[in-house]
Amino acid sequence: MSRHTPSMSVMVAAARKAARGLQRDFGEVENLQVSLKGPANFVTAADKKAEKVIFQELSKARPGYGFLMEEGGVVEGADKSHRWIIDPLDGTTNFLHGIPMFSISIGLEREGQIVAGLVYNPISDEMFIAEKGQGAFLNDRRIRVAARRELAQSVVACGTPDLGRPEHERYLTELRQVMLQVAGVRRMGSAALDLAYVAAGRFDAYWEANLAPWDVAAGIILVREAGGFVSDLSGREDMLKTGGILAGNETLHRQLGDVLKKAHKPAV
Ligand code: IPD
Ligand code: CA
Ligand code: CA
Repeated sequence: MSRHTPSMSVMVAAARKAARGLQRDFGEVENLQVSLKGPANFVTAADKKAEKVIFQELSKARPGYGFLMEEGGVVEGADKSHRWIIDPLDGTTNFLHGIPMFSISIGLEREGQIVAGLVYNPISDEMFIAEKGQGAFLNDRRIRVAARRELAQSVVACGTPDLGRPEHERYLTELRQVMLQVAGVRRMGSAALDLAYVAAGRFDAYWEANLAPWDVAAGIILVREAGGFVSDLSGREDMLKTGGILAGNETLHRQLGDVLKKAHKPAV
């Protein structure tokens, strides 16, 4: 069983409340698939509504904490040492297409360090949580990163840039090399869930570039508390600044990092 701090209970309550709205809206989105215009505006509204619920719940419980939110941006708090980092709907493209693979992501930063993280898939009702020094949990069951040591036996997740986003060539270069070495590659569509899956040992490793802090803040502590390693793509701890992320157990983190590095070196 996990022992929550009061802050984690607050995060869980906020996520569950927002999730009820997302569950309802997701049902509606599935109906809207058949309309020609599709559910795009509806999804934007669902996203904003979820963020508002989380913002209200957390502000009520912890007045003074600051916020960094995907939709609402930065909200300064009187308490400068605490900040919530929130993505109310990670996996928007999946949500929009009726694919039940998306999440709510809430991270808590104290003095610039992530001390708690929650990633919740409202459809599968899987709640991943972690607090510094307390381990990582999935629905109250302790989770750990996978123990595999060979890339050839590993399932590795990644992100690919959507239409109109930069760096398609870079991804093609990296994917080509990774595909040649691993058992399988997955592109699931929610960076927060990708990290949660690494923490739970479902994915052996994961990498992606150009992410925002709200995509990864909660997932980073999940992986670390599950015994895994996380860095940016150059092996440094600047994930929130560079937007690059590389995660796995110690061995696969290093091996995947080497493959990615080599992918960008000209053949000699
Ligand atoms: C996206 C997802 C996706 C990742 C994108 C993110 P959103 O977040 O995490 O997996 O590849 O880069 O922007 O837009 O669905 O919140
Ligand atoms: Ca996101
Ligand atoms: Ca989002």
